[in-house]
Amino acid sequence: MHTAIVLREAGRPEQLNLESINVPEPSPGEVQVRHEAIGVNFHDVYVRSGLYKTLPLPGIPGLEAAGVVTATGAGVEHFREGDRVAYFTSLYGGYASGRVISQEQLIPLPEAISFELAASHLLKGLTSYALAHEVYTVKPGDTVLVHAAAGGVGSLLCQWAAAAGATVIGTVGSAEKAESARRYGCSHIVLYREKDFVPRVQEITDSKGVQVAYDSVGKDTFAGSLACLAPSGHLANFGQSSGPIPPFEISQLFPKSNSVSRLNVFVHFRDIARRRQAAQALFTAFQDGTLQPSPIQRFALSEAAQAHHSLESRDRQHALVLVP
Ligand SMILES: NC(=O)c1ccc[n+]([C@@H]2O[C@H](COP(=O)([O-])OP(=O)(O)OC[C@H]3O[C@@H](n4cnc5c(N)ncnc54)[C@H](OP(=O)(O)O)[C@@H]3O)[C@@H](O)[C@H]2O)c1
Repeated sequence: MHTAIVLREAGRPEQLNLESINVPEPSPGEVQVRHEAIGVNFHDVYVRSGLYKTLPLPGIPGLEAAGVVTATGAGVEHFREGDRVAYFTSLYGGYASGRVISQEQLIPLPEAISFELAASHLLKGLTSYALAHEVYTVKPGDTVLVHAAAGGVGSLLCQWAAAAGATVIGTVGSAEKAESARRYGCSHIVLYREKDFVPRVQEITDSKGVQVAYDSVGKDTFAGSLACLAPSGHLANFGQSSGPIPPFEISQLFPKSNSVSRLNVFVHFRDIARRRQAAQALFTAFQDGTLQPSPIQRFALSEAAQAHHSLESRDRQHALVLVP
């Protein structure tokens, strides 16, 4: 018997309730997977609260998981029963003890990477990979601004950027997070709830500005991030943890010839071969120590509501997983 968290109506975390579900046999090209660990992401909060209306209700939220193949449909050649796999998908369905999914979504999981590490860091890891290596390629000598530097994606971004030889300025919401951000490779840290980060970045860079600002905070930081850019600098927005960014005038980019992007990691890695390649680079970086993962906090699948309360508290420094 399988169970899943079914969201019937958007709202508070208490809307996340465990129900029994039927997991069908896989159709041609599909694989049945038993989940060992399920990732919890900030995106899930937007879906649960109703800010994103991308999950048809009633529906099973959850973008990523890791587990074991339990059956394969006709025509599946590269996966067999017993294989370890992980995935992230914009089609949801992750908050369940098992599911069927297209073979085209699956990433083989090496023995050295635990189910919990994969489930909690695949989406965040590939988001950080795309941002640091492809949306803007961080170079030695760059100065880089990373908001929410102790957060899931932020902490990985800081580490990729520091490993590439950049000077990393991180913003964080508390003194405890400042300590973590330093461990993740930040040379300069700004407590942005106490101090305006814009003058501090100007001071650190001798008024030259940063080559790239990575901004997942959105409403509260977007204008300041633009102000921090060097000539030809890039603002890579990839989230809106503080709220949606109000419309802005494109002519604001003209004085310093700046550019802005808004990553969607699902679209960016729509090609599964590229997705698997980037996942391999991510797993290697965890294995060779280039990246330290965030500490992982476990909740039972039935405790999804508690996990969401924790996710929404800004004190949290752990990546969260649900365990069926
Ligand atoms: N574009 C994509 O494809 C993509 C993919 C994955 C994730 N994302 C986005 O990336 C962001 C980071 O995701 P994550 O899962 O790694 O989360 P996270 O960074 O661990 O958590 C969000 C952090 O944002 C900061 N924050 C600032 N204002 C906030 C507010 N008003 N409420 C809550 N938090 C606030 C907090 O850090 P401080 O206390 O340090 O300020 C908080 O810890 C999210 O916005 C997510 O949606 C985007």
